[in-house]
Amino acid sequence: MAKKKTVVDFMRMKKEGEQVTWITAYDYPTASFAEQAGIDMILVGDSLGMVVLGYSSTNPVTMDDCISHCKAVRRGAPNTWIVGDMPFMSYQISDEDAVANAGRFIKEAEVDCVKLEGGVRVASRIKAIADAGILVMGHIGLTPQSSGQLGGFKAQGRDVKNARLLIKDALAVQEAGAYALLVEAVPPEVTKFIQKKLDIPVYSIGAGPADGQLIICGDMLGLFQAFTPKFVKKYANIAEITINAFKQYAEEVRNGEFPTDQHVYHILEPIEEFEKMFKEFE
Ligand code: KIV
Repeated sequence: MAKKKTVVDFMRMKKEGEQVTWITAYDYPTASFAEQAGIDMILVGDSLGMVVLGYSSTNPVTMDDCISHCKAVRRGAPNTWIVGDMPFMSYQISDEDAVANAGRFIKEAEVDCVKLEGGVRVASRIKAIADAGILVMGHIGLTPQSSGQLGGFKAQGRDVKNARLLIKDALAVQEAGAYALLVEAVPPEVTKFIQKKLDIPVYSIGAGPADGQLIICGDMLGLFQAFTPKFVKKYANIAEITINAFKQYAEEVRNGEFPTDQHVYHILEPIEEFEKMFKEFE
């Protein structure tokens, strides 16, 4: 089994140009599969609201939802770097709230770091969390928790004015003390500039090449059916496999093909003895 990575490994990987592999997971089996596959990092994203809990946005997700799913992921992947995603309203109100909630991720769910969305406007939150001794990652570009303000799940930094703001956000995140930055749905030219400009690792989801890539497991496995972002590559179609398995099971139950003799427990004494006992109840 590979040794669990630390922040020192991630800094070295950036320096040496070694790519970090990163996926989301929300449950024990997926986390265990990721660890077995040698994935470097797992994000227990608040995307769990849409991928697993069936909400139409990430905003209804609570701290308790996140903690519970992070615990399951930690049990499934004890040797993998886990990022706990701070849900909507767990850090927006005050620095104190941000530190207390980041602390819950570390104490209760044993994640390695937390992630929160925003740049300049959350710099004081990042600083407060980092000052409490907690590793914190920034997330800029398409930030789903503020997708209302962005006009939907839209790519960011496509014009010079917006790209300049993103670069300022990236610098603010680093300056505030984040150990890494995630950039989402941004043109590769802008991501590349940010990656070169920052000393901390810069990871990408839908933002072209960077120090590593994140993908949402529900998207890449074909589990999430509501929509597929342009930047997703589907590596499997688990929805189709699952629906077909359910259909076949239902058909076999209905026509008596399942269960067969192979799927039952056999009696340990002669049937005559059982028949005698059944008679006692007649
Ligand atoms: O919640 C999540 O999975 C995320 C990604 C969209 C980056 O924050």
